[in-house]
Amino acid sequence: MTYPQYFQEFVNFTRQLYKAGENVFIPLHAPVFAGNEKKYVSETIDSTFVSSVGAFVNQAEDELAKYTGAACAIATGNGTLALHAALVLAGVQPGDEVLLQPLTFVATGNAIKYCFAHPVFVDVDKDTAGMSAESLEEFLTTCTHLNNDGNCVHTSTGRIIRACVPMHTFGLPCRIAEIAALCQKHNIVLVEDSAESIGSYADGIHTGRYGKLGILSFNGNKTITCGGGGAIITDDETLGKHAKHITTTAKKPHPWEFWHDEVGYNYRMPNLNAALLVAQLEMLPEFLKNKRETADAWFGFCQSHGIAVLQERKDAKSNYWLNAILLKNREERDHFLEYTNSRQVMTRPAWTLLPKMPPFSNDFVFADRNAKWLEDRIVNIPSSYRPE
Ligand SMILES: Cc1ncc(COP(=O)(O)O)c(C=O)c1O
Repeated sequence: MTYPQYFQEFVNFTRQLYKAGENVFIPLHAPVFAGNEKKYVSETIDSTFVSSVGAFVNQAEDELAKYTGAACAIATGNGTLALHAALVLAGVQPGDEVLLQPLTFVATGNAIKYCFAHPVFVDVDKDTAGMSAESLEEFLTTCTHLNNDGNCVHTSTGRIIRACVPMHTFGLPCRIAEIAALCQKHNIVLVEDSAESIGSYADGIHTGRYGKLGILSFNGNKTITCGGGGAIITDDETLGKHAKHITTTAKKPHPWEFWHDEVGYNYRMPNLNAALLVAQLEMLPEFLKNKRETADAWFGFCQSHGIAVLQERKDAKSNYWLNAILLKNREERDHFLEYTNSRQVMTRPAWTLLPKMPPFSNDFVFADRNAKWLEDRIVNIPSSYRPE
């Protein structure tokens, strides 16, 4: 098999970028603990407050709210739990429909299923790989109507479309302002899956803040991590209080009495993880600066080799969590994956489109042309923090 010349040049360039020798494995995204992580975790152990109550949880929440500009941030055990709780808070009921994109991590679809709701797929944009406002508008204008209660109804199924969950793919903000306007017009609750986009902005507003609720993830592969962790952000203080209540088992505060006033969830982030998160938040500006420099280096390489690459829109700022190139077709994509991974340079395709997989194979797909086009071509390339 003869591979295109640029495969070899890609591997060489990656080794140069990460100052890695011949056979050293280069991951897609490795966590970096170079700040106060050990100190804060150690303090937490010494305090014995390792579980869901503790000073670091409150501090992480305050700092996340300050950083994103949201009125409230509620820390959770991971991003999937945050998404499930956000959909419950958005009022998603069994039998409702929820809009999402086919090209996303499985958690977006799973959270909808946890609510016993039905996913409905609209397409993505080719330039952002995030939900397409155009596809959403086409679906809403041709397939839905408002009922007497003002709810948006999917005309062919008769089900209420309760929420819409766009996702900011790889940290690149989608056309969220247009999506928010459409949701408002059609009385659909907007919940942003901003799991991948801490530090990403659309028109100067942090992703996750266009929606009534947004969520973040601090999984080990994300821009900042606390092992496992997530957060709900919202500008609605009443909803924020309710979010905290239901994610802490809906227990009424009392020194000894147990009283739970609704079905709650044990979704709170432990203090041990919050200690890590506070330390990682201190590093976030430095991580973002460094990742932007890496993205710029990739853009230079791609431009000089005629490789297409996903870049932020003019009015958006990406955190460049994972850089993504677009290859000619699926065949070239697969050869590239084979070549690079067998040479210890980690690359990977985008997720398999959700409707192709068993849990979602019977769900309604309104449009997926761009999603399929991207699925055939996207390859994520090494994007970790690069120490000086
Ligand atoms: C788009 C998206 N949504 C949701 C999640 C879920 O986050 P977590 O892994 O923290 O549960 C992730 C990441 O893992 C994600 O990439």
